Amino acid sequence: MARKKHVKGNAKAKEKFMQIFAEVRWQHRHDTEAQCEHFVECGGCDLQEHSYGQQVAIKKQALERLIKETPGMSSLAKLEVEAISSPRDYKYRQRMDFIVTPEGSGQRRGDGKKGIVALTECLLVEDENYAMYQKTLELSRDLSLEAYNQNDYSGCLRYIIIRRTRSGEQLISLLTTSTASEEVVAKIAEKLLAEGVDSVYWNVNDSRLDDSLGECRKFWGKEFINETLLGRDFILGPLTFFQANHEVASAAYSSVRDFIKESKAKNIHDLYSGTCTMPVIFSDLVDTITAVENFSENVRMAEMNLEANKITNVNFIEQDVAEFLQQEDLEMEFSVLNPPRKGMHEQALRRILELAPDNLAYLSCSPRSLLEDLGILFREYKPVKLQLFDMFPQTEHFETLVLLTKKDR
Ligand SMILES: C[S@@+](CC[C@H](N)C(=O)[O-])C[C@H]1O[C@@H](n2cnc3c(N)ncnc32)[C@H](O)[C@@H]1O
Repeated sequence: MARKKHVKGNAKAKEKFMQIFAEVRWQHRHDTEAQCEHFVECGGCDLQEHSYGQQVAIKKQALERLIKETPGMSSLAKLEVEAISSPRDYKYRQRMDFIVTPEGSGQRRGDGKKGIVALTECLLVEDENYAMYQKTLELSRDLSLEAYNQNDYSGCLRYIIIRRTRSGEQLISLLTTSTASEEVVAKIAEKLLAEGVDSVYWNVNDSRLDDSLGECRKFWGKEFINETLLGRDFILGPLTFFQANHEVASAAYSSVRDFIKESKAKNIHDLYSGTCTMPVIFSDLVDTITAVENFSENVRMAEMNLEANKITNVNFIEQDVAEFLQQEDLEMEFSVLNPPRKGMHEQALRRILELAPDNLAYLSCSPRSLLEDLGILFREYKPVKLQLFDMFPQTEHFETLVLLTKKDR
C-alpha cells in the first residue's frame, strides 16, 4: 500500500501541539500496514501505519512534551501521564457523519487535495453500521434524492448520519436542504425501517456553510434509541451529544466518579453538561448536582435522561456557563469542567477562582486549550492526577483529564 507523508510543515501543524505531535510521530518508525484501503487519501485515520500500542505512546509523549514546553506547567509536568487505551482500536465509533456530494459520498480528503473520498469501507464503524449507511445511499440514489452540490448549491442530500447503540439499535438521519421531496424521504425512511433500522430522521439545513447539524422536520419509527453506560440508561436522538467510544468514555467518567467519592463533596456542579451524562452517573454519590448547558437539543434530552433514571437531585440549568457563574450567591464545592474544543471563557475561569471550590475535574478534547485554561486555574489550584483517554484510535485525537485540588488545602 502507498505511504502517506507525515504532516510535518503542513498548515495544520502550525498549531504548537500539532507541530509537537508531528515531530514525536516522526521519531517512531511505521511498524504496521494501514488496514483501510482509503488510508492515503482519506482525512479520517492518519495513524494507521503505527501499531496501536505505538499510537498510544506517541499521544502520551506528545502530551508530555507540550506540557514541558508550555510556560507555567511545571506542577503538571511532575505528574506521570497515565494513558488509558481503547479496548477496540477499530470499529469503535458509535456515530459517524458521512458527507454526500455529486462526486460520491464519504469523508473529506486528508491528502491536501480538495474534494471527498468516495468510501467503499470505513473501519471506524461496525460492519452493520457501515452496511446501513450504504443501504441509505443506495436508496437515495434509486429514488433520485439528488446529492447537494457545495459549488452551485443545487441538489438536496447533504449528510447521512448513522448512530448505533451497544445493544444494536440504529438511528439514521438524512440531512437535506428544504427542497427535498417529503414523499421521497418518506419512501427511503419506510424502506430503512423495513430493513430493521429503529429510527429515521429527516433534518433540514439550508445554510450554504457545510455543517451536519439541521432542524428536525419529521421522524419515522422510534423517536429515540436507548443506550446504557455504567449501568445507567441514556436516550439518544439524531443530534444528541454522546461520547463516540463507549468503553473509553466509561473509563473517563469512572475516574471522575472516583475523584468525587474521594473528595467527599456533597454538592457538585457539572459545567458544559451536554445531555447530563455525568450527573446521571454521579447522582447517587452526592446530595445535589447543578448542571449547566446551553444547547437546547441537549437540554431536552438531559431532562429525559434524568426522568428515565428516576433522578431527582439534579438541578438542570439552560444557560451559558460564563453567565451562570456571574450569580452573586453561588457556592461551589466541587466542579466538573468539560467544555467544547475551544476551552472555557476567561471570565468563567476567573469566576471559578473567586468561587474557590475545593476540587475541580477538567476533561478536555483539546490539549492546547486545556493548558491555556490551566494556566489561569493554577493560580489557586494544583494538579493531582493527569490521565490521557484514547477515545479516538487511528486519529491524533484524545481526551485529557486533569484532577485539581485547592493549593491551600
Ligand atoms: C464536550 S461537550 C460535554 C458533554 C458532557 N459533559 C458529556 O460528558 O457528555 C461540551 C458541551 O458544552 C456545551 N456548551 C458549549 N459552550 C457552552 C457554553 N458557553 N455554555 C454552556 N454550555 C456550552 C455544548 O453544547 C456541549 O454539550
